[in-house]
Amino acid sequence: MYLFSISCILLVQTIRYSECSPAHRERLFGLDVIPAKADEFPFVVSIGHVQHKRQYGHFCTGSLITKEHVLTSAHCLINETPRNLRVSVGTDLEESETYPVLSWITYDQWAYKSGRRSSFKDNDIAVVTLVEPVENVEPANISFANYDRSKKVKAAGWGKANERVVPRYLQSLELRIVDREECESSMSVITNESMELADNVICAKGSSNSVIQCGDSGGPLMDEDKSIIGVTDSYLACETHLLHPDSTNMFMDVKFYKSFIDSVTRSARKRSKL
Ligand SMILES: *[C@@H]1O[C@H](CO)[C@@H](O)[C@H](O)[C@H]1NC(C)=O
Ligand SMILES: *[C@@H]1O[C@H](CO)[C@@H](O)[C@H](O)[C@H]1NC(C)=O
Repeated sequence: MYLFSISCILLVQTIRYSECSPAHRERLFGLDVIPAKADEFPFVVSIGHVQHKRQYGHFCTGSLITKEHVLTSAHCLINETPRNLRVSVGTDLEESETYPVLSWITYDQWAYKSGRRSSFKDNDIAVVTLVEPVENVEPANISFANYDRSKKVKAAGWGKANERVVPRYLQSLELRIVDREECESSMSVITNESMELADNVICAKGSSNSVIQCGDSGGPLMDEDKSIIGVTDSYLACETHLLHPDSTNMFMDVKFYKSFIDSVTRSARKRSKL
């Protein structure tokens, strides 16, 4: 079974499973995860809460796809209200600028409103609209074409690293796309039940065992041109399966969501021209 009902959200991390005894594994979290260069992925943003004493609390990742729209996971927005959310722009969370949120729409809400039937059961994708546009960052490109499976891809996010702390700097990780059969069998080992993935899921693995962790959800999976091909998804791996060598990262394939993304970003542009 494939699910995202868990509110646990995932980050990029690496585990050298075979090299360490259980007692020491925890300290090795994140070995192969690299902080992104300052200007490498400026369009990758953090989604967080403004907590008491005005502290910012990161919990999901997203990507600016226009000056005022952020692509992220639908499950990041469950039980949230726009008033409590902020989008933080900048690779260094301590030096970033925060933007208030106007609204958002998930794919499922959009499909329902526009009378469309979804081709898939799970559509963990949403577009957040900001109150003000972000002027100083070039938004990401999205690649709706078929991606080249033989090329390396990269994921980025502020998922929890060592000691389960949110890292200050955006982290990135190189991955290779794995085919559906390999992904299904790897995940079956972990869940101990047979697994069938829908066509809207991209699976990718790191060189050692690199898993997406709490806080990475909603972040981009990018091709070599830094164009977005997927949106990072959560999986059970968050807590209990973190250390498993069969852990495989999963992403929503954006090419199935072109009408949704185009329609949401276009209608806002029209409105702002009035
Ligand atoms: C988007 O694509 C254009 C055309 O290829 C390129 O010039 C631009 O740098 C890309 N934007 C980003 C953020 O990568
Ligand atoms: C996996 O499933 C089988 C058959 O249902 C069961 O016998 C076995 O104990 C399970 N293993 C784990 C690790 O849960």
